[in-house]
Amino acid sequence: MSTTEPAFQSCISPACKGTFAVSEILTGCPKCGNLLDINYNWDRLSVPNSLSEFESRWSTKNNPLDFSGVWRFRDLLPFAPEDKIVTIGEGQTILQKSEGIGKYVGMNFGQLYLQYEGLNPSGSFKDNGMTAASTHAHMVGAKIAACASTGNTSASLAVFASTTGLFQVLVFIGSGKIAYGKLSQALDYGAHTIQIEGDFDDALIRVREVCAQKNIYLCNSVNPFRLEGQKAIMYRVLEGLNWEVPDWIVVPGGNLGNSSAFGKAFVELKQLGLIDRIPRLAVINAAGADTLYRLYEEQGVRWNGGEYDQTAIDNYYAEMTAQKRRAKTLASAIEINRPVNLVKCLRALDDCNGVVRQVNDQEILNAKAIVGAGGFGCEPASAASVAGAKLLREQGVIGQDERVVCILTGHELKDPNITVGYHADDKENFEKQLGPYGVTDAPYANHPIAVENNLDSILDVLDSIE
Ligand code: F0G
Repeated sequence: MSTTEPAFQSCISPACKGTFAVSEILTGCPKCGNLLDINYNWDRLSVPNSLSEFESRWSTKNNPLDFSGVWRFRDLLPFAPEDKIVTIGEGQTILQKSEGIGKYVGMNFGQLYLQYEGLNPSGSFKDNGMTAASTHAHMVGAKIAACASTGNTSASLAVFASTTGLFQVLVFIGSGKIAYGKLSQALDYGAHTIQIEGDFDDALIRVREVCAQKNIYLCNSVNPFRLEGQKAIMYRVLEGLNWEVPDWIVVPGGNLGNSSAFGKAFVELKQLGLIDRIPRLAVINAAGADTLYRLYEEQGVRWNGGEYDQTAIDNYYAEMTAQKRRAKTLASAIEINRPVNLVKCLRALDDCNGVVRQVNDQEILNAKAIVGAGGFGCEPASAASVAGAKLLREQGVIGQDERVVCILTGHELKDPNITVGYHADDKENFEKQLGPYGVTDAPYANHPIAVENNLDSILDVLDSIE
């Protein structure tokens, strides 16, 4: 097709450069199999001259598109006609300056910010992407949508389907691999929920096969429309900073959709002259699911203008299979062996002068407790960003005077078992929940206080607190 269309799909491989219409349902390049982007002929579109122009939409919030924290920036993801946009009020999230957490990380006063994506309708950042994927599904008339999930994608897809009634939902999850808060959402919102033996990677392989055979619309992050929506998280970060660019964005890395979307957002904003520099990106793996860390930091695999070392990646996966090595972390959202957006993330790391780090489950849980004590709280995977920022400060990679934004990807209530396990005062519960992950200590625990049901005993305890 001609690429004079305002929006089109294109292969990320510079050697292939295949382009396809937005009306096609694709989850990979039909020519070479690589990942796809949504690209735009910006000169055929109307784009604001400055980011502050978006502020005019704050006063027209009764228009659902202006209320949405994604679609009020629709000029920056202009692939859909307005009457096809599917929105449920996603993206009402905040950027909060956080002194206590900043101190924990080792930042100077006023330099650490948290972007609370847990405040989305389904309780995670996924709603930013799902509004865009649902919009595309609506544009192409899909009747069934599906995903594999560690829990949040499925909760998000299920809430979009149940709220709008536009399609049925099929979700694939690994058995025993999903936090109860998330599973309860998929079930409650009426998604057909298929639990297969195995983990997220197994579920993703199966859902892709099923979608291909049965013509079902796939909503995992190989869907390039979904990632267009996730760009809006960065627009809101800039909005929260009065349109100033921070020095660092720190984000947990699982399937690497977010980090890929963030890189694309900043590159486009720079190309459009809407920002003058691109922040640095830090992607934080859980130590038990550290494919990106190993390939990027240890083996030095780089985007390299699209000529990345596919053999190194293939060999890494072959070794993983041979050794029967599977991801294991209590941050179940990011318990992923083979991140599908790996090469897009390499591109983002290149564009954003990025770094990758890994943090262990103990570090994740300590950071999670600090986040909880200092704000709205988050689920374990999200706290990897704060633990990662702390590590990067200790290593001197992040300077104490730099402005850092950690993305808190999911709500505190997604995974209460882990939280209660950390704060438990009985060793048995602590060990049951956390022991299998090598967590031995809870230095920031806030133990529940067991007291006899007797006023004097209760008053004695209160005296000891005051
Ligand atoms: N944080 C949370 C809370 C997540 O749910 C996920 C991914 C990530 C971080 C990782 O983001 O994949 O963009 O690097 N959850 C997916 C799911 C896999 O199925 O809900 P990513």
